[in-house]
Amino acid sequence: MQGFIIEGSNRVGGEISVSGSKNAALPIIAGCLLVSGEVILRGCPELSDIYSSARILSCLGCKCTRSGDTLTVNCKEISRDHIPDKLMRLMRSSSLYLGACLGRMGRCTLSYPGGCELGARPIDLHITALEKMGAEIKEEHGVLECSAPSGLHGAQISLSFPSVGATENIMLAAALAKGETVIYNSAREPEIADLAGFLKRCGAQISGEGTSVIRICGVSELYPCEYEIMPDRIVAATYLCTAALAGGGLMVKNTRANELRPVIDLLCEAGCDIYDYDGRIYISRNRPLKAVSTVRTMPYPGFPTDAQPLVTAVLSRAKGVSVVVENIFENRFRLNPELVRMGADIKTEGRIAVIEGTDTLYGARVMASDLRAGAALAAAAASAQGITELGNIEFIDRGYEHLERSLSEIGVKIKRTKI
Ligand code: UD1
Repeated sequence: MQGFIIEGSNRVGGEISVSGSKNAALPIIAGCLLVSGEVILRGCPELSDIYSSARILSCLGCKCTRSGDTLTVNCKEISRDHIPDKLMRLMRSSSLYLGACLGRMGRCTLSYPGGCELGARPIDLHITALEKMGAEIKEEHGVLECSAPSGLHGAQISLSFPSVGATENIMLAAALAKGETVIYNSAREPEIADLAGFLKRCGAQISGEGTSVIRICGVSELYPCEYEIMPDRIVAATYLCTAALAGGGLMVKNTRANELRPVIDLLCEAGCDIYDYDGRIYISRNRPLKAVSTVRTMPYPGFPTDAQPLVTAVLSRAKGVSVVVENIFENRFRLNPELVRMGADIKTEGRIAVIEGTDTLYGARVMASDLRAGAALAAAAASAQGITELGNIEFIDRGYEHLERSLSEIGVKIKRTKI
């Protein structure tokens, strides 16, 4: 098994640049299927989930090539409408090919997506919305047979929860559908606005992205374009939390502070000093950390569930008692027992964690249970006394471009090895 060996207790310093966003790139790559020509995506992170998306497109007959951080996708010719189970299982975001395939080909056969390490992640909202738009979806033994015999049409869709994936799927399906689709209670995450930005660059008619009502007026064709993927706000949060834990001063470049307000406010409340200007965030932590008021994860612009494991790690070293409530994914607390192995005092009950901050964390053998839990353990290990062996790092590779290189650049003693 591949793992990280991390020697803790070094302060971080210097500057680091944030890569393009995984969660923005994945729906945009699915959106390339709607374009009958070449799309050039810049700032596309080098991650296993991006590679899996390219494999899905290639399997459908599209051409994908990568050079540095640029992914070129050409979906002029489509030769298949079936995505094999082994590709669908590679990641959760494969569900986006429902909307994209129906939008482009009017039919597809695929299975339930994988990547569900955060617990049951149903796609009922996606399916109900697509059915409202004229799709017929039959499920048998985990295989979804999808078709739109009379083509997709616009619809008024009211989501019972502002699901990010469902909002993206509907946008993809609606871009080429006949008539207007309105999504009420849509997700407001910045990655939704980035998908809208890409589709609009290709000629789609979309308004309201970033608000809870998105309108999409279907067009007959989308055109090739070049597009730059937004920076990854959770990768930025990872660097900020690593600095908060390890101490020292760090400049995080290529980031947008406005998309990280709840995380920045929490770190300031915990005793960090943070300044932001012109796409950069500077953080320094030279005092002991202190407990903060209750953290509750919420859809954007609330506190992001993806940053919750990172701040839980920070709060494990903050003097006093902090409470974290996880409202989005029931399995997001799977890092807590691993932090406890490192000396943290955390009591977890259902969706609530009570954290009594401790002065010192200690190196230990720990396992990543998912992507963000893994990153949080790496950040915790950077501040711990002694050596941490972190296993299951293939989860981390799904969302971070060589995390060990980035953390080494800022002074963390970390290396990848077989453990
Ligand atoms: C996306 C992000 C993920 C982030 C999450 C919430 C990507 C690739 N992933 O995941 O990193 O943590 O948003 O910000 O962009 N739900 C249903 N039925 C559905 C759809 C969702 O019950 O049909 C529930 C889920 O189980 C979960 C909640 O809604 O409890 C949020 O899910 P959703 O917003 O859809 O997250 P994802 O798109 O899966």
